[in-house]
Amino acid sequence: MQNEERNIFISECEAALKSNTFKRVVFSAPIAGTGQSAGKKDDKFKVNFELIAGGRKQLIKYSDNRDSSYTSDLNIDALMARFADDAIADFRAATLYTDNADFIYSENRKGVPRLQKTKPSMKGKVQTHNRQKNYVLSENRPYLQGLGVTNQSGNVVKKHYAKFRQIANFVEIIDRDIREFVETKETPIGILDLGCGKGYLTFATYDYVRERAKVEPKAIGIDIKTNVIDLCNDLADSLDFDGLNFRNARIQPTKPEDVDILIALHACDTATDDALALGLRSNMKYLFCAPCCQAEIAAQLMNANTSFETINAYPLMQRRQADIITDVCRALLLTALGYEVKFLEFTALEHTAKNVMLVGKKNDKVDRKKAYQDYLDLKKSYGFEKHSLEENVKDLLEV
Ligand SMILES: C[S@@+](CC[C@H](N)C(=O)[O-])C[C@H]1O[C@@H](n2cnc3c(N)ncnc32)[C@H](O)[C@@H]1O
Repeated sequence: MQNEERNIFISECEAALKSNTFKRVVFSAPIAGTGQSAGKKDDKFKVNFELIAGGRKQLIKYSDNRDSSYTSDLNIDALMARFADDAIADFRAATLYTDNADFIYSENRKGVPRLQKTKPSMKGKVQTHNRQKNYVLSENRPYLQGLGVTNQSGNVVKKHYAKFRQIANFVEIIDRDIREFVETKETPIGILDLGCGKGYLTFATYDYVRERAKVEPKAIGIDIKTNVIDLCNDLADSLDFDGLNFRNARIQPTKPEDVDILIALHACDTATDDALALGLRSNMKYLFCAPCCQAEIAAQLMNANTSFETINAYPLMQRRQADIITDVCRALLLTALGYEVKFLEFTALEHTAKNVMLVGKKNDKVDRKKAYQDYLDLKKSYGFEKHSLEENVKDLLEV
């Protein structure tokens, strides 16, 4: 609900961004049943937008306490729209930190608003990526130039900013999950990128691991397109990346590879399920997967029970619903096979609508039985018969 205090708070955010005095804004105390906390009681959910000096550019880092975090170029209009659409509408408390003052907005249980202005607690503090906590991808990495993302002076080429941000956010995500494993493993770490395309993330992951691992990693990128494979192999050779190879092949769900870290970003439709099945058979330790378009479940949802007919009447909504069901089924099947799974947003929505990443980590302690039962229940209530991942790993589920 709009009120005078909220409006002033929002104007102060905009004024601080425009006058370059903005530091950070934190939204907390979510309104139950709205926005990102819809359907879930999570009083502790908090989101944070922080201005970061990233070399020549100003960046905004989004993070929340459910593990999502990504960085994008500062675009004041886009950010203000985001505050207005999500953050402001969905939370009962917010604090804005600027060089001149802190602004604390809150609503009591009856919804009565209050706005306080206090001394600036972050005055003059320059926030940079904390290298201990957040890995920041250097624009100077030679492979970025080879891939055309940066120019000869090591600056990001304008039309490739979105790609650069995607790579940088990806490396930051893997850094959080795999750094310790990478730094301690005594034998070569196996990396497999399935549906690697031009190999942006294969190069990025290999380069990241190679910089930290005790021994040269072994990385393979696989794609059905021939032209990209030759280009990628030529670039790997020219950089003396001896452990990095690209293969022209179709993802084979039944053929295990030597892999610790599996990557599958935007592999089309059920190619994602083939990639996950291959990873499961290979006993991968870590999985980073951003699903792509899905058609398989959408085509079967017409069998769902009557309460879904209302959704099925709108093809776009049916499709979105099918995407979510498909990915939740993937998470449940992975859990049923011994993985701890989380979903993250890995890049700003302005860059790609396909910004959800499924992260899996081998964990013997997960409740495998319950996950499999939850999967069967979901399948029954939505009335679909076939999910490619289940078909691909049926023999593993039966053990
Ligand atoms: C949308 S692109 C994504 C490329 C890359 N992962 C990225 O994020 O930049 C999907 C890639 O998957 C490849 N692909 C789709 N199905 C495949 C399959 N069954 N086996 C191997 N590659 C496949 C396509 O050729 C394409 O290069």
